[in-house]
Amino acid sequence: MTSSEPKLPTFPVPQDWEEVSKLYPIQNDSIWLNFCGISPVSSFAASVMADYFDEYSRFGIFAPRYSEPKIRVILQEQLAGLLNCSPKSIGLIHNTSEGINLYSHSIRLSPGTRILVLENEYPSNVYPWEHWKEKGVGISFVPTGNTPDEFLENLEKEIKTGDVSLLSLSPVHWCTGMPLDLVAISKICEKAGVRLILDGSQAFGHIPIDLGQIKIEFAAFAAWKWLLGPLGVAAIYISPEASKDFRLIFKGAGSVKNDSQYLPYRDELKPAADQFEHSTANFNDWIYFYASLQMLSAIGFAKVQSRVYEISDLISVRLRNLGFILDSDSFPEAKSGIIGVKGHKSKEFTPDAINVFFRSKKIYTAVRMGRLRIAPHIPVTEMHVDILEKTFKEYLNK
Ligand SMILES: Cc1ncc(COP(=O)(O)O)c(C=O)c1O
Repeated sequence: MTSSEPKLPTFPVPQDWEEVSKLYPIQNDSIWLNFCGISPVSSFAASVMADYFDEYSRFGIFAPRYSEPKIRVILQEQLAGLLNCSPKSIGLIHNTSEGINLYSHSIRLSPGTRILVLENEYPSNVYPWEHWKEKGVGISFVPTGNTPDEFLENLEKEIKTGDVSLLSLSPVHWCTGMPLDLVAISKICEKAGVRLILDGSQAFGHIPIDLGQIKIEFAAFAAWKWLLGPLGVAAIYISPEASKDFRLIFKGAGSVKNDSQYLPYRDELKPAADQFEHSTANFNDWIYFYASLQMLSAIGFAKVQSRVYEISDLISVRLRNLGFILDSDSFPEAKSGIIGVKGHKSKEFTPDAINVFFRSKKIYTAVRMGRLRIAPHIPVTEMHVDILEKTFKEYLNK
């Protein structure tokens, strides 16, 4: 952008985390602890949306600051900055299932080989692979184990059989919060010639991902979790190697180069990452995503991640002191923002009842796979943790 061009709103970084929290009106009288489910909107993103709608109402698609090509490039750059990859490797889509399906239907795998996914994986990274079964490619579930090392052992056992063609993995388990050792996994896959695909919805924005170090072929990830963005926007990463001969099974109005020239019909396709967007995009939501990524990158993705760990560690310590058993008791060294509470040392553990009790107190957690799942993000402060602890005590003393 040259200096004479009108400027998009930038995020003024607040002085402390309390001020960041105040940007989330929901935290005034409630405590949102389901950021790995769906994140609420910040007043900053809402103000950027209002600014955009004002401009769009006056100029339509000729809105001077919010032009679609410009916003798309900024989103690609912001996400490339997060993942340490080229902006050209990033494409914008709508959800993880869509991205993994498009990829899964577009590649070739040899019959007789197997696809590996994680045990109890979220369905978005399971169903899109199922069509391979009728094409002679098997699907196996790798036991997660109780620690990242146990998972590596289980993975190596599977890969040693020699018939694995692809591993599609969520690097953080969506129920237990256990993060996996991606550097080691990437090495194992590379050595065995296994394609590595990531479902990044629970990981990107949450744990450090450096695509300069990890060799993956493809990833799809949602905006509305750790990236604090809108529902119905997601992104894909496709590696430069995989892009070379990649061709999506679908061809839409937006698949060809210079797609605003509608006629004559053409066959020359856009670069691989752009092909995932078949035609007209949900541009309004891109503005919300732009605002969320502006906020996260202005604070610093790494700083945001350490703060998430700091708050989730604080919650975990308080819960252990109250006698709760956490999944992370088995992997204390691994950092995660998702806390799986799976039992109590001396009392009956009924996660549904706790969840309902919390809801009556405007504390929003979730129940997944028999766990009470707690997932804080930067709008959760020490003050919220104190209230959470008090409410847990109140529940235990009922
Ligand atoms: C591991 C994982 N992948 C993907 C998703 C979201 O899937 P989709 O984007 O298809 O709605 C979730 C949502 O909870 C998830 O936990």
